[in-house]
Amino acid sequence: MRMYDIITKKRDGEVLSEAEIRYFVTEYTKGTIPDYQASALLMAIYFNDMTEKERATLTMAMTESGDMIDLSAIDGIKVDKHSTGGVGDTTTLILAPLVASLGIPVAKMSGRGLGHTGGTIDKLEAIPGFHVEITTDEFIDLVNKNKVAVVGQTGNLTPADKKLYSLRDVTATVNSIPLIASSIMSKKIASGADAIVLDVKVGSGAFMDHLNDAKDLAHAMVAIGKHVGRQTMAVISDMNQPLGKAIGNALEVKEAIDTLQGRGPKDLTELCLALGSQMVVLGGGADTITEARALLEAQLYNGKALEHFKSFVAAQGGDPKVVDQPDALPTAQYQVELPAQSDGVISAFSCNDVGAAAAMLGAGRTTKESSIDLSVGLVLHKKIGDHVQKGESLATIHTNHQDIEAVKEQLYKSIELTQEAVELPPLVYDTITS
Ligand code: URA
Ligand code: CA
Repeated sequence: MRMYDIITKKRDGEVLSEAEIRYFVTEYTKGTIPDYQASALLMAIYFNDMTEKERATLTMAMTESGDMIDLSAIDGIKVDKHSTGGVGDTTTLILAPLVASLGIPVAKMSGRGLGHTGGTIDKLEAIPGFHVEITTDEFIDLVNKNKVAVVGQTGNLTPADKKLYSLRDVTATVNSIPLIASSIMSKKIASGADAIVLDVKVGSGAFMDHLNDAKDLAHAMVAIGKHVGRQTMAVISDMNQPLGKAIGNALEVKEAIDTLQGRGPKDLTELCLALGSQMVVLGGGADTITEARALLEAQLYNGKALEHFKSFVAAQGGDPKVVDQPDALPTAQYQVELPAQSDGVISAFSCNDVGAAAAMLGAGRTTKESSIDLSVGLVLHKKIGDHVQKGESLATIHTNHQDIEAVKEQLYKSIELTQEAVELPPLVYDTITS
C-alpha cells in the first residue's frame, strides 16, 4: 500500500477502505509515514469529509494504536461523560458522585490539562489529602465498592491521536467534524467506556460557535458510537457564559458541594440533571430520561448525593470535612469586588476572556510543567439577563496578589451591559440520541 495513493483517493473525494485507514494510522504512529504526507491527507479529509463508516474505522484505528483500559472487572455498564470544553465547567465533580449514588458505576479517568483552570483532577486535589495516584487494580476495587473513583490518566492511551492532534494544530485542520469526532471518541473508548454521554458546547466560549456545527459534531459522535457498539447520547449546551458562578479550582469544589445539596446555581444544576439522566438511562438505572431525572433530583434533596461525595472523597484519602467546613479548602488571601461601572442589563460574556482572567490570577497552567494556584479564581454574581446598578458587584475576585488592575480591566472588557431587554440563551439546545 502507498500513502500517495491514499492521499490521491481522498483528494478526489473517494471513500477509503478499512485497510487504507488502518495502514495510515498504524504507519503514521510508528513514524514511517512523514508529517507532510499525513498533513496532506488531513487536509483532504478536511475538504472532502468521511462517511460514517470511515469515521468509525478511523476511531477504532486510533483507539487500538495504544493501550486500552480493561474495565470488565467492574460490574455493570460503565458510562463515561465527556465535555467538549468550556469555562467554569464543574459538572464532572457533581455528576460522578450523583450518578454513583444511584448504583451506576462511574470509573473516571481524567486529566490535568492546560486551560483557564485545572482539570477535574486538579480541582479534586484542592481537597486536602485527595489523591489520584492509584493502581488500576485499586481503581477497579474502589469502583466496585463505592461505585465511583477518579484516576489520573495512565498508560499510553491513543498515541495516534496525540500525534495527529499536534499535527492538526499546526496545519489548520483542527476544525473538522470527522477529525474532532474520531479524536474524542477514540479516547473515551480506549479508557474503557461501555457507553458515552457527550456534552457538546456551543457559544462564545466553545469550539463551535454555531448551533448547526455543534449539532453536526454531536450527530457524528453518536453515529460513531453506534457503529462501534458503544451506546452514545449527546446534549448540546450553551457556552455563551460561564457555567455556574465559580471559576477556579477550590471555588468550583465548593460550588460542586453546594450543588450536591440542591443549593447550586440553576444552570449548573440543570445541566447536571440533563447529562446525569442520560448517564442513568445508558447505565440501566431507568427506562426513560424523565424517570432518571426524577431519581437524580431526589438524590440532591434527600442528602444521598452529598453523602456519596463524602465517601468518594474519603476513599481516595481526602478530608470529607470540606463539605461542612469549606474554609478547609485552599483560600485566597484577598477577596476583591468588581463594581459595575454603569447601570444596565448583562447582555453577553466573552466567555474565553473571563476564563483568561481566572488564568491571569494563576488558576490555570500555561505549560505542562507550570504550577497552579488552587485557591484563586472568580465568583460571578451576575449572569446574562440580570439587572445591575452602578457600583454593585459583578464578581468577587479571589486573589493572592493585591495588584490586579489588569485582571479587572480584562473582566470589564469581557462583560457587556446594555440598556435594552435581553433574550436569555437556552441552556440545553438539543438532545441527540441514535
Ligand atoms: N478535543 C479533542 O480531544 N480532539 C479534538 O480533535 C478536538 C477537541
Ligand atoms: Ca462553575
